Amino acid sequence: MSELPAIEGGSPIRSTPLRFRPWITDEDINLVIDVLRSGQLSAIGGKWNTLLEQELTKYLGAKYAITVSNGTTALHVALKAIGVGPGDEVITTPFTFAASATTILHSNAIPVFADIDRETLNIDPSSIEDAITDRTKAIIVVHLAGYPAEMDEIMKIANERGLYVIEDTAQALGAVYRGRMAGSIGHVGTLSFYPTKTITTGEGGAVITSDAEIANRVRLLRSHGETGKYYYELLGYNYRMTEFQAALGYSQLRRIEEIIKRKEMFAKVLMEELQNLENDLIQFPRPKPYIRHAWHLFQILLNLERLRVSRDRVIDALRAEGIEAATVAYPIPLHKEPIITNMMGHGKGCPWTCPYYGRKVMYKPLPNAEWAAERVVTILIGPLYTTEDAIDTAKAIRKVLNHYRR
Ligand SMILES: Cc1ncc(COP(=O)(O)O)c(C=O)c1O
Repeated sequence: MSELPAIEGGSPIRSTPLRFRPWITDEDINLVIDVLRSGQLSAIGGKWNTLLEQELTKYLGAKYAITVSNGTTALHVALKAIGVGPGDEVITTPFTFAASATTILHSNAIPVFADIDRETLNIDPSSIEDAITDRTKAIIVVHLAGYPAEMDEIMKIANERGLYVIEDTAQALGAVYRGRMAGSIGHVGTLSFYPTKTITTGEGGAVITSDAEIANRVRLLRSHGETGKYYYELLGYNYRMTEFQAALGYSQLRRIEEIIKRKEMFAKVLMEELQNLENDLIQFPRPKPYIRHAWHLFQILLNLERLRVSRDRVIDALRAEGIEAATVAYPIPLHKEPIITNMMGHGKGCPWTCPYYGRKVMYKPLPNAEWAAERVVTILIGPLYTTEDAIDTAKAIRKVLNHYRR
C-alpha cells in the first residue's frame, strides 16, 4: 500500500511550505540604501549601471553589456538593433515564456516556431533548418530552464544561411556551453533579472554582444535614440534601469557562483533521490558532459501512460504536500496561445497582414513541444533551499507518483 497523499486526506510531507524566495543579503540592502541616500537615482549621470555593465562583460567574456528595464525590453531592443522589422520572420521555440515570441510581434515581424528536442526541451537544430524561408532574418534561441541549447549546430546553420542569432538567456545566466558562457555565443544575448532568475534587480535585464555596432544601437534604443542633447536619430524607447536596481544587480553578481552552486546542490540531490523513478514514471533533462546547467528550473516529464491522473492533478497533489515551488513551465506551447492563434498585433493587423510580408501564416503541429507541455512538472529552484528541502521535494514526488501509478 502506498502512503496516502495529502490531497486525498493523508498528512503532508511539509508543515512549512517550500516556496521560492530571492536571496537578498545585508550587503545588498546596504548598497541599495547608499544609492538611495546619494540622490542619484537614474542611470543618466549615475555610475552603477556602468559598473554592472562592466562586471557583466567580465563574467560573460563579451565586449559589451547594456543594462535595460527587463528581459522583455532586452529582447525587443536586440531585435530592433539587428534590423528585424516588417516583412521578416524570426524562428524561435514554442516551449518558452511568451516574451520570446511577443517581442518579435512588437518588432512587427512574424514568429515562426521550430520544434524542440525531447531530451533537452530546447529548440531542435534540424527543426530550425526546416523552418528557414527567404524571409528568415534571425533565430531566437532560448536556453530553457538554464540548460544551454546546442549552440555549435545552431551557429553553423545561422552562419551558412546568413542569419542573426539572439540567445534568450533570461533563464540561464551562468550556464556554460563547451567552455563558453551562454549569452555570449550568438550575435547578441539577453538577460532577465526578475526575482526568480539567477541574479535579481526586482525587474531588470541586459543585452550582451561583442559587436560594436549592435551595442551602439542598443544603447541608443534604450534611451530615446538620443545622440546629442534633445537630438534624436533612432526611434527609441525609455528602457533604462534605475541606479538602485543596478547596484543591487552589482552586489548580487559578486556572489553568482555561490548562487549557482546552491541551486546545483538542490538539483543533484533531486536527481539522486528520483533515480528509481527515472524511465519508469518520469524522465528529466540530464545535463550533458559538455554543459553547465544554471538550474533555474528542474523540469520533470511524467510518463502519463503509467499514471491514473493528469499532470494538473499531480501539480495540485505536490502543492498539497507543501511543495509550493511546483508549477508548470509551460502548459501551452506558444503556437497554440490565443495571442498567436488570434493573430494579435498592431492596429489593423500588422505584422500578420502587413503588405511588406504579403503571405499567409500557417502554424503546423509541433509534436515534441505539445508532448512536453502536456506532461511537464516544474520545480522552481531557489538559492535558499537546503538539502532537506530537496529531500522533501523528492519524497513528495515519489509519494504522489507511486500513489497514482496505474
Ligand atoms: C525565456 C524568457 N525570456 C524572456 C523573459 C522576459 O524577462 P522579464 O520578465 O525580465 O521581462 C523571461 C522571463 O520570465 C523568460 O523566462
